[in-house]
Amino acid sequence: MRIGFTFNVKPGAAAPDVDDRYAEWEDEETIAGVEAALARAGEVIRLEASDDLPFRLREARPDIVFNIAEGLYGPNRESHVPAICEFWSMPYTGSDPLTLALCLDKGRTKEILSHHGIPTAPFTVVGGPEELDGFAAWPAIVKPLHEGSSMGITRSSYCRSRAEVRRAIESVVARYRQPALVEGYLGGREFTCAILGNGNDARALPIIEINFAALPPDAVPIYSYEAKWIWDRPEEPLDIFRCPAEVDAELAAAVERTSLDAYRVLRCRDWARIDLRCDARGVPHVLEVNPLPGIHPDPAMHSCLPKAARAAGLDYSEMILSVLRAGAARHGLVL
Ligand SMILES: Nc1ncnc2c1ncn2[C@@H]1O[C@H](COP(=O)(O)OP(=O)(O)O)[C@@H](O)[C@H]1O
Ligand SMILES: [Mg+2]
Repeated sequence: MRIGFTFNVKPGAAAPDVDDRYAEWEDEETIAGVEAALARAGEVIRLEASDDLPFRLREARPDIVFNIAEGLYGPNRESHVPAICEFWSMPYTGSDPLTLALCLDKGRTKEILSHHGIPTAPFTVVGGPEELDGFAAWPAIVKPLHEGSSMGITRSSYCRSRAEVRRAIESVVARYRQPALVEGYLGGREFTCAILGNGNDARALPIIEINFAALPPDAVPIYSYEAKWIWDRPEEPLDIFRCPAEVDAELAAAVERTSLDAYRVLRCRDWARIDLRCDARGVPHVLEVNPLPGIHPDPAMHSCLPKAARAAGLDYSEMILSVLRAGAARHGLVL
């Protein structure tokens, strides 16, 4: 089998503390890790998702594309490579362009979750502070509508008053040039739950809990940009995850059921990771759905999906190959 491997690579000079633009892109270690895993199933053709990708992809004609490209421009950036694959009529792994674009719009995601009765915090999407109108759920979290990797999520995203919310909206709109999502703050335990597979075979991997006790004493209990990229470094790791999470059977079932329900209604395919946080009564609510989850192979980099897979007894290669197999099976391809 010939496997096209599409990705975006971080520019060498991008340092997370000065520049968050490339936080979602992969480093060479991840690309090499995925490539090595895929090589067990066939010939791998590296296809960096730069602007001439469409023609290189057409020329390469792989049997299937293993896609982890986060994309370059705009709110639909994650759907570009799958859309190109569809344009050339090529099978690819992971969610389709519609799901990828939807999940990168946290407001649209929450509308769909709400429609299906899946718990998610009250919210509003605004283009500026003047649009805040009736929303009054304090404390609130204000975040960019279309980002990931905790971009734009800092101490000042946690707002205790309307005045703080207005300031946070102004800062999101000015810095990220996109609407802001204003959401009621969920103060309970936080989990992330990875899903692998499709239909009746979709299964939740062991649940990870975010350990807020590991944050500096004066930090707001959120998994912020600082917590993800600045305070947590391989040479000085933050003890930020508990995996498997210490949860009773009832809470575990609620987290898994809610995650699988979110996966299903958003029509995720092959893999995804759902972030959830409990309200004051302990009910898990969906924060967001990540259909292109981070997959750094180095355990010191604290990447959730590989960590959860390891806890389930799947090593990195097996985890990648299970995604490839799930994608191939949907297209009737045999590995
Ligand atoms: N409504 C909320 N209530 C409490 N914490 C939140 C809320 N929204 C976001 N957070 C915190 O901010 C972090 C990042 O938010 P998330 O929506 O998952 O964005 P990202 O795409 O950057 O991961 C979460 O892991 C959580 O700790
Ligand atoms: Mg998240």
